[in-house]
Amino acid sequence: MGFPEIRLRRLRSTPGLRALVRETALSPSDLVMPLFVRHGTGVRKEIKSMPGNFQLSVDELVKECAEIKGLGVPAVILFGIPARKDSEGSEAHSADGIIQIAVKAVKREVEGLIVITDLCLCEYTDHGHCGVVRKHAGPSGREEFSIDNDATLALLQKAALAQAKAGADMIAPSDMMDGRIGAVRKALDGAGFANLPVFSYAAKYASSFYGPFREAAESPPSFGDRRSHQMDPANSDEALREVRLDLEEGADIVMVKPALPYLDVIRRVKDRFHCPVGAYNVSGEFSMLKAAAAKGWLDEKMCALEMLTSIRRAGADIILTYWAKDVARWMA
Ligand code: PBG
Repeated sequence: MGFPEIRLRRLRSTPGLRALVRETALSPSDLVMPLFVRHGTGVRKEIKSMPGNFQLSVDELVKECAEIKGLGVPAVILFGIPARKDSEGSEAHSADGIIQIAVKAVKREVEGLIVITDLCLCEYTDHGHCGVVRKHAGPSGREEFSIDNDATLALLQKAALAQAKAGADMIAPSDMMDGRIGAVRKALDGAGFANLPVFSYAAKYASSFYGPFREAAESPPSFGDRRSHQMDPANSDEALREVRLDLEEGADIVMVKPALPYLDVIRRVKDRFHCPVGAYNVSGEFSMLKAAAAKGWLDEKMCALEMLTSIRRAGADIILTYWAKDVARWMA
């Protein structure tokens, strides 16, 4: 070997040395646990495609949230399954909508837990799309549909206000309409919620890794797909434009979603904007490891910790993950 001898293994020789030079830390305090809430009492319905995750009624949700807080996970993000769906997703903004009831209960019962609300219409619309659908005849005479961006903004503003009034600590728009962060910010500011942070799903891709979530939230589109508003997986310059716009419109935290197939995007966003960055370790990323672990092909705990550490290493400050509770237990 040449001189001086560079031996990188020196600092790998003991657990103490490895810990001393470790660059990235994964901590439960950086995690957000996604939860699904539905009407009823005593409901704890397992989501088949996401083992260990449940649709919970509000009473069960409160218990779950208390446990999560007790484990040292600081935040949850709530998704609602409404009683009724209609073309405009009215339950997203009604005062007695499932999310509004749930937020009130959790804020009342679980002190100090940060309650984030996902803001989108797809769980609430009967067609399963994220906005107002317009049908029209295409050039060939066949019926086509499009999502009316600006009509959707007005509904998102109403839903954001309903969530704010219920006591949400942070609003997380996940719809990918243009101009929604500015619209939501304006609605909040105009109603006395100028201090309520907005966590934007800024670079949200049209991903097939959302498959299990659509069963969990009962929100698959009944026709078409989400490619007219969510991003093309092939693009990353465009992600920077999305993030820049959302920051200019007033986003406090920006998210990249999914996480694992988009680690390069997380890194570019962090390097460029030096702002708080979140990453959503989505349902498909969770379930594929669960499935492999169930077959004995992979070690769930070790692989999950490696994945989450890698998402932090790529530049994410905050990770939304279905493993949040498990990580807190594993690291206790
Ligand atoms: C939309 C929303 C989705 C997810 C979070 N918010 C689904 C979609 O855009 O189709 C997916 C999360 C996951 O897969 O874990 N409200």
